[in-house]
Amino acid sequence: MTRSEQTEKPQKCELFDLIVENFPVGLIILDRHGKILEFNPAAQAITGYKREEVIGIYCHDVFPGVPCRLKRQKKQKDAGGNKIFVHLEGTITHKNGHEIPVCYTAAPLFKDSELKGAIAIFRDISNEKKLEQHRRVLISMFAHDLKGPLAVAGGLLTRMRQGKAGPLTTKQCQYLDSIINEIAKVDGYIKTFLDIIRMEAGQITLSKKECSLQRIVQDLVHEISIKAKENCTKLKVDIPDDIPGVLADQEQLQRVLYNILDNAIKYSGKGAEVSISCQDIGEFVLCCVEDSGPGISEEDLPYIFDPFYRANYSKGVEGTGIGLAIVKTIIEAHGGKVWVKNKTPPDHGAIFCFTLPKAS
Ligand SMILES: Nc1ncnc2c1ncn2[C@@H]1O[C@H](COP(=O)(O)OP(=O)(O)OP(=O)(O)O)[C@@H](O)[C@H]1O
Ligand SMILES: [Mg+2]
Repeated sequence: MTRSEQTEKPQKCELFDLIVENFPVGLIILDRHGKILEFNPAAQAITGYKREEVIGIYCHDVFPGVPCRLKRQKKQKDAGGNKIFVHLEGTITHKNGHEIPVCYTAAPLFKDSELKGAIAIFRDISNEKKLEQHRRVLISMFAHDLKGPLAVAGGLLTRMRQGKAGPLTTKQCQYLDSIINEIAKVDGYIKTFLDIIRMEAGQITLSKKECSLQRIVQDLVHEISIKAKENCTKLKVDIPDDIPGVLADQEQLQRVLYNILDNAIKYSGKGAEVSISCQDIGEFVLCCVEDSGPGISEEDLPYIFDPFYRANYSKGVEGTGIGLAIVKTIIEAHGGKVWVKNKTPPDHGAIFCFTLPKAS
């Protein structure tokens, strides 16, 4: 670097102003009380507010829907020693009252261990949302259109199997049974896939009522017992008699538990132990399914709930990778959460847990 270049280097304050002014995404800096200190031109363009209208005002007064209260922010790092920050998709209210979809990342600002304020950057994602919606419509139309020809093929094959197109040999009957079976599976996958898309778009209305987890689990254990026997799986249920009812769509809740239990049996191998437990944890009921299988490796953990994701070891096991995606969509549509962790060594196996709001 030459001497003249060195002298041209902006001072820290000037550099800070330059960055704020030219930052290509919205930037808000708050003081430790949550009042707005900085509001750059990109933030003004997204929200419609002028800088001078918001400086010195509490962020939550200007943007009521955004969680920008700092009072409870005591810690700089989480239990794992990582700096705390939030990365969320949400909406921000434009000055004209419209909701703008945004993606924002926010972090508290600490000096030593004293909270000095917070910084947030955000981006208008209206275009991405429109594209996503367009893609969703296209995919659901495609999936929906596949159902017609499948239904026709399935119907004709069933008639053929019934001998309506002439006598069949035993071998032909076996082949037709297998084909009809496979067609029914594809039809089921399409239905599940369409359900995910509709649920994500908020187009499925859940018919929620008070459901008894004890009852649902009992019925399900009965239903799945043949599969469990084939795998020599020991099923254990630990649900207290006085467990409160949950507010859920019974059919969808059965689907959640079926998928998690099916996986536990399928991936744990012969002779495994699978236990189902429920606990009252205040506003929610916590439900966990533990198995004694291989568990889930660190690299698979972040993707396990993504549609069509399957870990390498599952390639030889029948499945499409859609079960856990539907579990996540259903639980979140009920206002609950779902997660997975591994048992602590030397024990091995996966623990899938979800929460659902109590009915009362
Ligand atoms: N209990 C478990 N133990 C180990 N791995 C699991 C367990 N449950 C799920 N997985 C992993 O997560 C992946 C995704 O599960 P998911 O239920 O979504 O799909 P799948 O079982 O492969 O197919 P299907 O759509 O028929 O359910 C599985 O392929 C497997 O790799
Ligand atoms: Mg599955």
